[in-house]
This record gives sequence, C-alpha cells and structure tokens, in this order.
Amino acid sequence: MLIKKSSPWEIPYSEITPQSVYLSRRRFLTRTVAAGAALAAGRAVLPGWLSPTGAQAGTKLTGVTKSSYGTDEKITPYEHVTNYNNFYEFGTDKEQPAKLAKDFKTSPWTVAVEGEVAKPAVYDLDTILKLAPLEERIYRHRCVEAWSIVVPWIGFPLHALVKMVEPTAKAKFVAFQTLFDPKQMPVARHAGIPFPYVEGLRMDEAMHPLAILCVGMYGETLPNQNGAPFRLVVPWKYGFKSIKSIVKIRFQEKQPPATWNLATPNEYGFYSNVNPDVDHPRWSQKSERRLGEFLKRKTLPFNGYASQVSQLYAGMDLRKNY
Ligand code: MTE
Repeated sequence: MLIKKSSPWEIPYSEITPQSVYLSRRRFLTRTVAAGAALAAGRAVLPGWLSPTGAQAGTKLTGVTKSSYGTDEKITPYEHVTNYNNFYEFGTDKEQPAKLAKDFKTSPWTVAVEGEVAKPAVYDLDTILKLAPLEERIYRHRCVEAWSIVVPWIGFPLHALVKMVEPTAKAKFVAFQTLFDPKQMPVARHAGIPFPYVEGLRMDEAMHPLAILCVGMYGETLPNQNGAPFRLVVPWKYGFKSIKSIVKIRFQEKQPPATWNLATPNEYGFYSNVNPDVDHPRWSQKSERRLGEFLKRKTLPFNGYASQVSQLYAGMDLRKNY
C-alpha cells in the first residue's frame, strides 16, 4: 500500500487506533441498545436467506447460522473495523472511506458472471443470495500493512457460486472486479493505483471452503466502507485480496491481473498468502498489531489457517510466489 510513513511500526498507536478505543465499549453498548430500539420500532430486519439488496448498510440480518469454521478469538470492536479502512476508491487515508462512502449507492446491485462458464449471466444479488444459507464466520483478517482485526463476517462459501455457474474445463482462475464510478468516487483519481480494482484467485483457492462471498458483518448488512453490498473474504491471504463491492466475476484460463501487483509488482505478488518469513521490501511481516490492542503479536503462516490451506501450495516456492 502507499504508506506515507516509512513503516507501520512508526505509526503512533493513537493514529492506528482512533481515540474511540477507550470509548468503544460505551459506544458499542449504545449501538446495541439503539439496534434493539430500531427492531422494536419495526426497522427493516431481513431473514438471512432473503436479499439485503433493497436494504441500507447496517440492516439487521436474521436467520444466520453459526459456522463451524472460524476462530474463537476476541472480536475486534465494530468502531475499529468500520473507521480504519482501505478502500482506495474512497480515499487513501484510513478514516476517509467511512466518511466518503456514506452515500455510495449499493442498491440495486448486479453481478456479471462471464467467461468460461456454462451459465454466464448478469445475476442480481437476490438470485445469488438464494444459493446458500448465510453463515457467520469469525475470521482473522491480516492487512499487508501489519495490522489485523477479527471480524464476524456474514456470507456463504464462494464455491456455491462457482458450482452454480458451471465452469468449463478451461476455467483455471477466477477474476473479480469492483464497481468504478468516478462520479461517486471523485477522490479515486488521487489514489495512485489503477481502477477498477481487480483481484483473482486460482480455481482451487476459489473452491476452498474458507473463501467466502460476504454480504454482512456484526449481524448486519455490510457498511459501505467495508465493501457493501457484496465482497470477497479470503482469510489466509493479505487483506488486499479481499476485494470489495464486486460487480464482475470472470472465469478464465489465464492468471488474471491483481491491482496491487499491477501497481507495484516488486512489493505485491499474485498469491499474497500471509507469510511471516517473506518481508515486505519496506517492512517486516513477522508481527502485527491488532486494532484496539497495544502489544504486537506474532504473525502466523497463512494467517493461522495453514493446516487447512497449505496443501494448496504443495511443491511451490512461497518465497518466489509471494
Ligand atoms: N477493495 C477495493 N475495491 N478497493 C480497495 O482499496 N483494499 C483492500 C481490500 N479490498 C481495497 C479492497 C485492502 S488493502 C484491505 S486491507 C481490505 O480491503 C480492507 O478491508 P476492510 O476495510 O473491510 O478491513
């Protein structure tokens, strides 16, 4: 990422964690009470199997099942996860997306599925959401900038969508693309990276049960700054693989381009698996700071998901394929 300070270790704690850290508990309680009041007042509440496409960010999702996948680590307070974001279409400062994505139009929303599939189509989110029941997955999320969060995402396995569209034998990779609308994203022109934001996965990565397509978090539809209404979450990779606000999914034979790899190929590879043994050219990846915490913790290979995913990379030199 284009970090203005020379390394994340030099960012003062007060900047990484807004002063809300000491207020967060009180705000969280206020929010919970407010959510309860909204429910009592009949504000929109969606069963998990219904689409939130007509819903605003922050609409309660009900009927979401708890998944057996995920960590039981302490969840990062909502305030941190929604006020310290990377979403370069809405600014390069971490606090900007929460403010500048406020009026981002996320409804109606369609996703074009193209390329090497038997069923190419433009699907609306309602159709996609009927594919599989929504699950809550509490995942560690490790940003390449050496901070991390633990988030209760709501979504369904990416493989459910892959199976629905019936990839042909030629489909070796899946490419993803974010909406790019300069009218809604006027600050994007200062971001210094190409848009639309694009990402990709190898087919076997896309089929892995840990990879999810995500429509919500903390019991509600996604806030705009976190990638509403529909994003990817791949927990064993650095956060930049988890592309937000997806409008296109393309199945193809060739490895697709990935935004950060295009922007600075010597710093960001295609695979982007969390690897404490491969430093970023400008900083170490050995440890990370969890937002809201003071002490750093050790970064784990594949972000702690090695036992589930390392076999995908058997025989590969992960120092070269970073
Ligand atoms: N997707 C788009 N479209 N644009 C972005 O700038 N940033 C990535 C990823 N997805 C980004 C994106 C990076 S660098 C990270 S760390 C995560 O989103 C951050 O997700 P979060 O804001 O939900 O924590």
